[in-house]
Amino acid sequence: MSALLQISGLAKRFGGLVATDNISMTVAHGQVRGVIGPNGAGKTTLLSLIGGTMQPSEGSIVFDGLEVSASPTHRRAAMGIGRTFQNIKLFDSMSVLRNVMVGSHLRGRAGIWGAMLCLPSAAAEERRLRDEALAALQTVGLLALAEVEAGSLSYGQKRLLEIARAMASTPQLLLLDEPAAGLNPTEAVALTQLIKRISESGVTIILVEHHMDVIMSTCSQISVLNYGKLLAEGSPSEVQNNEQVVEAYLGRPGLEERLAAYA
Ligand SMILES: Nc1ncnc2c1ncn2[C@@H]1O[C@H](COP(=O)(O)OP(=O)(O)O)[C@@H](O)[C@H]1O
Ligand SMILES: [Mg+2]
Repeated sequence: MSALLQISGLAKRFGGLVATDNISMTVAHGQVRGVIGPNGAGKTTLLSLIGGTMQPSEGSIVFDGLEVSASPTHRRAAMGIGRTFQNIKLFDSMSVLRNVMVGSHLRGRAGIWGAMLCLPSAAAEERRLRDEALAALQTVGLLALAEVEAGSLSYGQKRLLEIARAMASTPQLLLLDEPAAGLNPTEAVALTQLIKRISESGVTIILVEHHMDVIMSTCSQISVLNYGKLLAEGSPSEVQNNEQVVEAYLGRPGLEERLAAYA
């Protein structure tokens, strides 16, 4: 498998704080890459640097053969990088379908202004975006709720809606930031199956997650961050048996137990 994403020497500093420190990582086409680590380790920052909502202080990000570290978010979205956020970002009073389409408008050819001005090109595009949005809702299992107000969804459904919005842009690379946070065990299992389905459809995935069961059953390779640094990288069993990883999780009983449960 060839590399879809190649990160080299990536650093992000906030004042004196180094959020990501000299991180290098290669993600192959079709891979599901897990990213784990204690809170504050730099996981969300890493996704923001890849997605383009943050610019790196140093280092390079090559996506699909092109250096993108200076490209704006919408450009990266158009190139095929989709993303969900750790904190749900939905428009509660808009329909489920509209929430998905809002994301798509941002990269549509007619743009959001064309859509507002009802240009003919925008009408055709509106139909195309609607079809893409409906397909994405079907993928995550929310099609029957397309016309419902987003605010009325359960927490788990809102998380799925976020994934649908990212999928509507038919990304090559999907960045998921703690999609299982707050889900009950049944919802977490359903999410695991969804991630597998998305992966099988050919999408490369970077999954930031604390739920070890979701990570262990979906990821072929795991990167472990600690204090902004890449602490370890390898298969699930390599990572579970890595002394430094176990050490980093010591004194964090919840995480430690969850890691040990899979050792
Ligand atoms: N926008 C920001 N401004 C300043 N500091 C930030 C910002 N985003 C993250 N940080 C800091 O960077 C570090 C890594 O944060 P983050 O990437 O959110 O970690 P994680 O997702 O692994 O919990 C933390 O110390 C956090 O406080
Ligand atoms: Mg985070």
